[in-house]
Amino acid sequence: MPRNNKRFLPFMKRERPFVILKWAETNDGFIDSDRSENELGKPNWITGEKALLRIHQMRAVEDSILVGTNTALNDNPSLTVRHCEGRNPVRIVIDNHLRLPESLNLFDGTVKTLVFNSIKNEETENIEFIKIDFDKRWVQHILKNLYQRNIQSLIVEGGKLLLDSFISAGLWDEAYRFIGNKDFKNGIEAPKISGNPVFSEIIDNDRLFIYKNTN
Ligand SMILES: NC(=O)c1ccc[n+]([C@@H]2O[C@H](COP(=O)([O-])OP(=O)(O)OC[C@H]3O[C@@H](n4cnc5c(N)ncnc54)[C@H](OP(=O)(O)O)[C@@H]3O)[C@@H](O)[C@H]2O)c1
Repeated sequence: MPRNNKRFLPFMKRERPFVILKWAETNDGFIDSDRSENELGKPNWITGEKALLRIHQMRAVEDSILVGTNTALNDNPSLTVRHCEGRNPVRIVIDNHLRLPESLNLFDGTVKTLVFNSIKNEETENIEFIKIDFDKRWVQHILKNLYQRNIQSLIVEGGKLLLDSFISAGLWDEAYRFIGNKDFKNGIEAPKISGNPVFSEIIDNDRLFIYKNTN
């Protein structure tokens, strides 16, 4: 099915974007190690350059990309497309209590960025704060808001709490699980997903498993 139909038909039917979960875990099942303060502020790389290219190619064709509060703080990601040609997805971050500093790369104003929070509605040139209820259905509230903006697909990049929220709500369509060739021995455990992968691939020293939500 062409990419447009793969996204558009479920978008119209379910009134939410096509949701792709994505994370990288170590051989021993961690998405981050226990890092000290001075090791924070950049990603703790798990996979190699070819897998990174693959991730940027995914970003270049999807409409939006979402991270959790701790990920924004710990990794300071840009969430832009830099390793291949293509447009940047709309960046989205959860910041319930508005505790993220303006100095983060996400707030550099270069790409449209949505900040879901429980405190204010406010719009500057490229950064939009959107107030929502962080009740039991907050994942649904966010997806409904994205639907209303005609955002047809969403990559959920982590961390663990955010990915688990989408998994437990059953609100995902595909999951991309990269496994890197290293061990952390401790840290934040990778999310668990049931079922068997529908696709697997070796990418240099890394492996990729793709799952589909059949429920
Ligand atoms: N390897 C990978 O692919 C990958 C990808 C992304 C991130 N990571 C790693 O993951 C780590 C962060 O993961 P994390 O699980 O600690 O944090 P996270 O999912 O990035 O953010 C969680 C934060 O969001 C709010 N929150 C509270 N309850 C929540 C819920 N049920 N669902 C979603 N968010 C909730 C909380 O902030 P408030 O207290 O403000 O409410 C919470 O501290 C980072 O260290 C990063 O390096 C790894």
